[in-house]
Amino acid sequence: MPERAKRLAGSLVDAALDGERLAVGLISGTSMDGIDAALVRLSGPPEQLQVRTLAALTMPYPKRLRLRLLRMAAGETTCSGEISELNFLVGDLFARAALQVCRRARVAPRRLAVIGSHGQTVFHQGRFALRHAGSGRGLRTPSTLQIGEPAIIAQRTGTCVVANFRTADMAAGGEGAPLVPLVDYLLLRHESASTVALNLGGIANLTVIPAGADPDAVFGFDAGPGNMVIDTLMRRQTRGRRSYDAGGRLAAQGRVIGSLFTELTRFPFFRRPPPKSAGREQFGESFVKRYFTGQRARLADLLRTATQLTAWAVAEALRRFVFPRLRVDRLVVSGGGVHNRLLLSTLRDYLPHVAIELSDRYGLPADFKEAIAFAILADRTLRGLPGNLPAVTGARRPVILGQIAPGRSPQ
Ligand SMILES: Nc1ncnc2c1ncn2[C@@H]1O[C@H](COP(=O)(O)OP(=O)(O)O)[C@@H](O)[C@H]1O
Ligand SMILES: [Mg+2]
Repeated sequence: MPERAKRLAGSLVDAALDGERLAVGLISGTSMDGIDAALVRLSGPPEQLQVRTLAALTMPYPKRLRLRLLRMAAGETTCSGEISELNFLVGDLFARAALQVCRRARVAPRRLAVIGSHGQTVFHQGRFALRHAGSGRGLRTPSTLQIGEPAIIAQRTGTCVVANFRTADMAAGGEGAPLVPLVDYLLLRHESASTVALNLGGIANLTVIPAGADPDAVFGFDAGPGNMVIDTLMRRQTRGRRSYDAGGRLAAQGRVIGSLFTELTRFPFFRRPPPKSAGREQFGESFVKRYFTGQRARLADLLRTATQLTAWAVAEALRRFVFPRLRVDRLVVSGGGVHNRLLLSTLRDYLPHVAIELSDRYGLPADFKEAIAFAILADRTLRGLPGNLPAVTGARRPVILGQIAPGRSPQ
């Protein structure tokens, strides 16, 4: 372990950091469906990192909490007291998810070298998004806020927690997102095959890793909605009873509404060249309200149209911004959207020449790639290694990410 990292980590971590070490990664994404937790064993030097997932689980948010978070993220009026309370409530749930994944793997929490917690984003607006979308709320300074108090996770588990990963990249002039591309690069790069990693979370994001590339040649951006439009439609039309279209089965019973689909494909975001990122501001409630309400159509048809749009947006992003630069050999897909069979088969129809594979094939269970990524990023932080890719986030330089909440001191 480099001297600088040792000083940084102080007595917070044990010598296990040099060889095999156990780490937990925690995240709840923009879908706000629940907390993904993964316990991994890391080994090897950072550039030839080996990862093995020992246990992983999703702890769904209690329904009421989820609705509070969704309301807050949608920009509804809140107060600092509510944000403060939610930070502690969510922190408590993140701690429980960490303890549960340790139990599942039969690993005592004190054996962990580190926990990397992304937290729950409740607001994110980088410089770029601010310039292009405006916040509509009179906000002018780029900022980001992830909640889920790391001190609570550290106290409950006795383990050192790295959290607030996005802020250092933004302080160095970056967008603060996406951060997973470095991990995609470390784990999916290939000497002779160009790879695109696609995560179908609330938003669909892409990491492009040219064959044999240096980190500088990696780029990544958001293609459009992942599950967000489908989920929002589902929640609205069932008055909150259902929050996603399981397996894409309801959409599969419907038909694409041609005129609506054409109108949706004209949404300016899809044409705008990268770097670009999207969130609820682009594809949340207001998007669904604007385009889908007032349509006299069955829910199945609306869902089918939303599913078609989601697959189209990924294919369109590749056609416009990636294929002109390189031949893509494989598309490695992860995120909850992989369970939507209609979405995946539509994507295959749009991209007949690309091999579409699940990330599981590369030792990254599709539902947990992002959780695993934050375990790895936390490990890098303790080693004094940067976690951002300036070519992707626009930061002025590579920076060590995160803030550390110490665990219990050694007895
Ligand atoms: N069985 C399923 N069928 C269809 N969609 C699913 C299924 N399971 C999960 N999903 C979708 O995946 C989403 C969660 O994916 P996730 O990768 O956790 O996204 P995020 O990172 O935004 O939280 C759910 O909101 C839902 O839309
Ligand atoms: Mg999720």
